[in-house]
Amino acid sequence: MMIVILFGYFLTGVCGDGVADLVLSCTLVEEGVGLGGMGGGAAFTRTPATLVLRDVAVAPDESLETLTPFVPPSIPDPDAILLEAKVSSPEIPNAHVLLHADCNEQELMCEISRYSLRGSQESSEPAYFMVSLNVEEVEFSTALILRTLTVNKDQSTLMQKKLGLPLSQSGTLMTEVIFLVFSHIKSVTAPLRGDVLLNCGFKQQEIPLAQDVGVAWRLQHRGKGWKVLEMKTRLDDVEGSTVVHAERRGSSVDAAQVVGEGNASVTLTKLKVVDEGTYICTVSIDLFHAQQVIHLNVIQPPHVSLSEERLILKSESPQTLSCHCTKYYPLDAQIEWLSLSPTDTEPTVLPDQGSLSSHRQHGDGTYSLSSHLTVHSSVSPGTKITCRVSHPALDTPLSVSLVVESPEPGSYWWVLGFLIITGLFFYQVMR
Ligand SMILES: *[C@@H]1O[C@H](CO)[C@@H](O)[C@H](O)[C@H]1NC(C)=O
Repeated sequence: MMIVILFGYFLTGVCGDGVADLVLSCTLVEEGVGLGGMGGGAAFTRTPATLVLRDVAVAPDESLETLTPFVPPSIPDPDAILLEAKVSSPEIPNAHVLLHADCNEQELMCEISRYSLRGSQESSEPAYFMVSLNVEEVEFSTALILRTLTVNKDQSTLMQKKLGLPLSQSGTLMTEVIFLVFSHIKSVTAPLRGDVLLNCGFKQQEIPLAQDVGVAWRLQHRGKGWKVLEMKTRLDDVEGSTVVHAERRGSSVDAAQVVGEGNASVTLTKLKVVDEGTYICTVSIDLFHAQQVIHLNVIQPPHVSLSEERLILKSESPQTLSCHCTKYYPLDAQIEWLSLSPTDTEPTVLPDQGSLSSHRQHGDGTYSLSSHLTVHSSVSPGTKITCRVSHPALDTPLSVSLVVESPEPGSYWWVLGFLIITGLFFYQVMR
């Protein structure tokens, strides 16, 4: 259970009005050099690291008394990986959930990796780091790009051994957040033929890194990938410079919202089954890009009906009653037969559950299924037979039922009546 070890714990520090320090235990992930991973795959080395987020905004009603301030180690340790980042500008949206994740026993995943810019040297400064923060239970998810701050080097300056970067007086790597992409929604469920908004936002420093912004949405499903939409625009000239390629018909990103609010959410209309999958939102500014992943589930509840409106028992032969469950998605539908005889108070699940047809798939990707029940003549009239269908798109199972009727006495009376009338007729004629 490698993953469990990688999950972080929290410590919270306080520093004055409405802001607090968060100390997150993270993992520095590096691509292994000369390790030659198994099967030729890249090998990664993982080293414990600490991330201190300074000045995280705290709600006014938050009690800060229980929090202890972050104290840097008294003797700087060049082996320790201790990253410090001020997060007041840009702010991390919803960062307050990190304050409580600890007490609520939620697990934080914090992974740090070197972010190399195209064309720059590994050892050159400033250095960049990509941090991905995730708290599964509260759907918190953010990718941060950190840039190291310049350290005034003198002979007493320590260098971090693994990273070869100069440490501050207190033994931390001083950084600033320059760019972040967040989504906070990991998974969305939307009805077939409905519309959905997949949320993705970004923030950068007040002085933009660059004027060019790119937003790309891609879909991955069952090992295949598709482009959904690509947009390029400029912060200083939205109208004149926006170029959109919507590969999926009915997909859109609002360029004005991208520029005005850093809102790169995509809207998909008239959802189809093929729209289901994992969406990747990539926002790029200048040479920097960061991503978020959102899963879309498409659902459609079944339509349930019985083959007969009435079921009248015949003296000898058994009859078939079918329950049709049509046009639903996803596949997992369950059909169950129950019966409630006039003498019972609770319906019981029938021991004979009939026979199932095979699943039929329609052109739109939805499924249909039928179950055929044999109703024997021995069933007591007045018995209520119910077909109950459960499906992920239904909050509660859907039921349709009918009451078994006894053979109609009416037909005998018709025959008898006919005979009497005929008899009377002949009696009249013969007289
Ligand atoms: C983007 O805008 C939509 C409404 O148009 C809103 O529902 C959503 O929360 C916004 N997302 C972000 C990340 O700002």
